[in-house]
Amino acid sequence: MSVWSTPRHTGPAAQVSPLGPSPKITVPSLLDRKQTGTRISAVTAYDFPSARLADQAGLDIVLVGDSLAMTMLGHESTLAVTMDEMLVFTRAARRGLTRALLVADMPYGSYQADDRAGIENALRFMKEAGAEAVKLEGAHASLVRRLVDAEIPVMGHLGLTPQAIHRMGGYKVQAKSHEAIERLREDAHRLADAGCFSVVLEGIPREVAATLTAELPIPTIGIGAGPGCDGQILVWHDLLGISEAPHARFVRTYLDGAALISAALQQYVEDVASGAFPADRESYHLPRETNRASKASEELAAV
Ligand code: KIV
Repeated sequence: MSVWSTPRHTGPAAQVSPLGPSPKITVPSLLDRKQTGTRISAVTAYDFPSARLADQAGLDIVLVGDSLAMTMLGHESTLAVTMDEMLVFTRAARRGLTRALLVADMPYGSYQADDRAGIENALRFMKEAGAEAVKLEGAHASLVRRLVDAEIPVMGHLGLTPQAIHRMGGYKVQAKSHEAIERLREDAHRLADAGCFSVVLEGIPREVAATLTAELPIPTIGIGAGPGCDGQILVWHDLLGISEAPHARFVRTYLDGAALISAALQQYVEDVASGAFPADRESYHLPRETNRASKASEELAAV
């Protein structure tokens, strides 16, 4: 069955895998995973077909990450993407999901100026795009508290936070000194106390991530944080080998997507040039009666 032909919006618990019905992933079900030790799989996806494929593959969380500034829009960092752009991509991903939890990333500038703007923008993701939670970078505990009060589940994001690229001086592994580890630990506990239902730990030593995972009451989702987290997240283009940029050490590429797509496109160019595409079976034909009638009139004209 193609990704295009499957029914949409079939509601919670509607997706059935060969192993039986697969219930809708919710914020409470993710918190339960911490208790049962069942690892959480997450991926970024930014549009309908990608979200659909992730959902069908059994991913637990789909994040419409602000990484789309780079992967989809070609910017050099995540800073340029706007709320309106994020909303377009979040709505598209929404249409592809039935089971996975949809998390929308708060873009740079949408929550830093004041908490009120942060709440208004987070509400837009929930109301206008069907997000089920938002993610924000940094230890904004007071904003997290207010969002949770407004019934907006929040995923935190600590460690290498790409929106802080200029403060960090580049995409560098964080929390390497005792002081930095202690600061990260305090921030993580502050976010958990404020009501975050999970926290992304990005670009930190695996030992630090494992210790935090053991300490925190909420799931940790790692990216470049080693195997000791409660779950893992990768960026769609990295996982599928579509991005041209050199990969960070933590990326595992499951498909040579760029090579496969390039080969297909080159073959198409060749087939168009040689006339091999389209073939007769890829063409429409005149109905038999029309064909017969036009042949007859051609014969008449030739007499
Ligand atoms: O924007 C993004 O893709 C992210 C993930 C790397 C966690 O924040």
